[in-house]
Amino acid sequence: MKRVAVAHPNIALAKYWGKRDQGRNVPAVPSLSVTLDGMTTTTALEEAEADSLAINGVLRTGRPLERAAAMLDTLWREAGRLGQRPRAAVDSHNDFPTAAGLASSASAFAALAVAADALFATQLGRDRLSAIARRSSASAGRSLFGGFVELPAGDAFAVDLPAAPVAPASHWDLRLVVAVTTEGEKEVGSTDGMVRTTETSPLYEGWVKAAPAIFARVREAVLARDFDALVGPVEQSALTMHATAFAADPGLVYWNGTTVEVIRAVRKLRAEGLRACFTIDAGPHVKILTPTASEASVREAISRVPGVLRTISARPGEGARLAVEE
Ligand code: PMV
Repeated sequence: MKRVAVAHPNIALAKYWGKRDQGRNVPAVPSLSVTLDGMTTTTALEEAEADSLAINGVLRTGRPLERAAAMLDTLWREAGRLGQRPRAAVDSHNDFPTAAGLASSASAFAALAVAADALFATQLGRDRLSAIARRSSASAGRSLFGGFVELPAGDAFAVDLPAAPVAPASHWDLRLVVAVTTEGEKEVGSTDGMVRTTETSPLYEGWVKAAPAIFARVREAVLARDFDALVGPVEQSALTMHATAFAADPGLVYWNGTTVEVIRAVRKLRAEGLRACFTIDAGPHVKILTPTASEASVREAISRVPGVLRTISARPGEGARLAVEE
């Protein structure tokens, strides 16, 4: 038996950074993301003699395999199944470059949750699959849903904390332009970066305090489809998150010089009357949000910023789902 699922990455407009509970992977702040179309993770899951994981055709062991197996264990347990979980071979492919800074762990764990639910016939439903994927990678909980999605902050007891849809992909015809500023992998992953920020940054408390109000403004602007109201809180969310990380010990500098140049270019475009705003994740690439009508102008201008290697465009897309049944 084999089951195949597909999922897309998502980009947070209101960022999550920091956990309330490390073991249960519970976010300390609420986040709001948009699931992206165009970039897809396809994951095939098949019963096998032993657990295995292949990413883009390359067999992986160690931490990546442990994380995939741990999610299958959680799903099996959550479904109340007794006995040993069937071993499974995970074969996952991304049709977008991992180095583009688009969280591949989000689409990977979302696709795996849907494939496992089908293979084990657990019929857990969206909410529970989202909560299970969230425990492996918080952003993955959001990729279970399409369009605009929120993930609340939890308390230390929040075992079941799913993401929830805010508005469907058709709600707002926006574009996200990724300015790729390096082909390299990031130096410090989000999990380690968050731990260091939480434990050592003197600004962390301020971030946790400020994030809910920023999130609320993003949410309101999304619901009202008010781009001008979206600009301030989206940029503040990213910059406050990064300021908090910069202040860790040792400081986390996810940016490179081009990151700063793109930020300046986006603000210049805005001063010239174009609608655009930026967000940045745990890496040096800049993601620019813009209404569809200005996408071509934004792409053109950003491509000309020295250091920008290329741009990738995406639009709001659907949640994780089963692809084909064999
Ligand atoms: O859930 P993770 O470990 O992929 O962390 C995501 C962290 C950010 O991408 C920086 C912010 C976010 O909310 O997606």
